[in-house]
Amino acid sequence: MKRYHLRIRHLLLALFLIAPGMPLAQAAEFDSDSPTVLVTGSNRGIGLEFVRQYAALGWNVIATCRRPAEADALSSLADEYANIRIEQLDVLRHDMIDALARKYRKQPIDVLLNNAGFFGDTLQLSGSFFGRLNYDLWDLYVRTNAIGPLKMAEAFFGSVVMSQQKKIMTVSSLQGSIEDSYGEGSFFYRGSKAALNMFMHTLSGQNKVKKAEVLVGLFSPGLIIDDRTRNLRLDGKVERPVSVSGMIEVIDNFTPEMSGGFYKYTGDTVPW
Ligand SMILES: NC(=O)c1ccc[n+]([C@@H]2O[C@H](COP(=O)([O-])OP(=O)(O)OC[C@H]3O[C@@H](n4cnc5c(N)ncnc54)[C@H](OP(=O)(O)O)[C@@H]3O)[C@@H](O)[C@H]2O)c1
Repeated sequence: MKRYHLRIRHLLLALFLIAPGMPLAQAAEFDSDSPTVLVTGSNRGIGLEFVRQYAALGWNVIATCRRPAEADALSSLADEYANIRIEQLDVLRHDMIDALARKYRKQPIDVLLNNAGFFGDTLQLSGSFFGRLNYDLWDLYVRTNAIGPLKMAEAFFGSVVMSQQKKIMTVSSLQGSIEDSYGEGSFFYRGSKAALNMFMHTLSGQNKVKKAEVLVGLFSPGLIIDDRTRNLRLDGKVERPVSVSGMIEVIDNFTPEMSGGFYKYTGDTVPW
């Protein structure tokens, strides 16, 4: 009888641990003396590198991604650093954003880092071919690259306000700059990043944001050297860790005068 009760208790405990909203990789408690960053799209690329570098710097890291069960590189990092918590988040899903923001409503978030973005696997996906554009794709681009970060800012605003640093930082792209973007195609990617730039610039000017002294920044990370770009003859190529450590330095030294602006990973201003 006693053993039977014990089994029921274990079963109830297991059900509690896998209840929705629990971090998928159960991590140690966050250190309340350390700053906290939340990163979207943290399972690969620039987002994963942000997690690696912030974790190594001793920050509490809320690392979000769409499919934690498949995020092997991120899980290995979380095994290495107890200050990383993995959470499931699809920025297209506003119900998911609201649920995660509710879960962290008492957690100060010093840097909300909107990194998740969608370029498309092929040139055609990024809305490249004038004369053969698939207009149905625009919705996916703008909802991922522009509306997603704005909704994140709205949902997590309370957590940002209660932090010490109060920063909302978003990875945009040089391709969102009307003055500096050139070359063929990518209508929808460029259009969505230009919309993102306007959204974040507008956000920085809101009374509520200025009153709360929240700083808003946009970044061009440069053209990251990876399998896709290694052999391209293009200017502005940069190794991922260099770009990310540059952006972290700019975020660390971000001043109120910089709020609402668009910066390279070096800290230089990018023209709109
Ligand atoms: N790489 C460059 O040269 C470059 C240049 C300029 C700007 N950027 C910008 O930098 C950011 C990161 O780029 P990257 O090079 O690291 O790209 P990447 O390797 O393609 O990674 C994109 C990340 O965004 C995530 N993502 C896409 N849609 C999402 C959604 N609906 N919800 C949550 N996460 C989503 C992806 O998750 P899944 O794995 O689930 O797809 C992935 O984690 C993007 O905003 C991109 O536009 C990159």
